[in-house]
Amino acid sequence: MNTIGVVGLGTMGAGIVEVFARSGLDVVAVEAGAAALERGRGILTASTDRAVARGKLSAADRDALLGRVRFEAGPAALHDADLVIEAVPERLDLKHVVFAELDRVCKPSAILATNTSSLPVTEIAAGTGRPDRVIGMHFFNPAPVMRLVEVVRTVVTADDVVADVAALCTRLGKRGVTIGDRAGFIANALLFGYLNQAVTMLESGHVSREDLDAAMRVGCGLPMGPLALLDLIGLDVAAEILDTMFRRGGRNRRHAPAPLLAQMVTAGFLGRKSGRGFYPYGTQEPSEEQ
Ligand code: 3HC
Repeated sequence: MNTIGVVGLGTMGAGIVEVFARSGLDVVAVEAGAAALERGRGILTASTDRAVARGKLSAADRDALLGRVRFEAGPAALHDADLVIEAVPERLDLKHVVFAELDRVCKPSAILATNTSSLPVTEIAAGTGRPDRVIGMHFFNPAPVMRLVEVVRTVVTADDVVADVAALCTRLGKRGVTIGDRAGFIANALLFGYLNQAVTMLESGHVSREDLDAAMRVGCGLPMGPLALLDLIGLDVAAEILDTMFRRGGRNRRHAPAPLLAQMVTAGFLGRKSGRGFYPYGTQEPSEEQ
């Protein structure tokens, strides 16, 4: 594979663009319009500038990396891509529209992948004329840092497509794990009940956010506490994932979104990306990290 397409340049999509460009692949980065393209370019630039400032990347390598990325409005530019990853918001109707368009513009041999975290890959595949070449590639946030990719195969995914995508993960320096099309796949199925329970515990008023996070960070050796992790994931994204898992996973109480989570999303407290979630973000470091 030489040319990779990425559709949707939010936090995950822009991070995925960086992952591929870092590995020397040419990337066509697609968004719907000029403003969204600029936002995606900004995320990529900030992340690579940060790597340069930390001495992890030379300025010349950053420039070469950015030179491998072509920003395009609309999917027509993806006609020669070998693999396209969709990373648009988690709405099935939107995914169907994007995949119908990709199916139309991409060459027949192209693999179409979705970065969905909880929606059914089988349904996304069934909306195309090439369901055997549709697969899930679920990256973790922050994509340039986290080494896991869940490779999600449906009952119709061709064996050679699974093998090619697994080999691609290795080429990216990632650990690919393969799973069938189940709500939450592996990691989110285990993680989100815990995150939801943390919000419920905070809501009970018996513990402060700092102590709750410190218990899991300092006591259990996790890199961050559950509330800080929710702020990183995005509270809107987390609420959508919980909602989907609740509906797809047999309405298990564990995944019924905690009322506080839904209220914070309504109030616009979405986590790091909006400047406020369970912690404030800005010029000061959040207190959880202290
Ligand atoms: N983008 C790119 N790079 C980033 C980054 C970002 N947003 N945030 C941190 N980094 C890089 C830093 O540049 C640094 O790189 P270096 O070691 O090469 O210098 C490295 O990550 C470590 O960063 P920091 O020293 O600033 O901070 P920490 O050591 O505290 O690490 C963290 C930050 C990597 C986010 C760490 O706290 C962590 O691993 N947290 C858990 C994250 C996690 O669980 N993610 C999965 C969420 S679930 C998910 O994504 C599924 C989805 O469906 C919701």
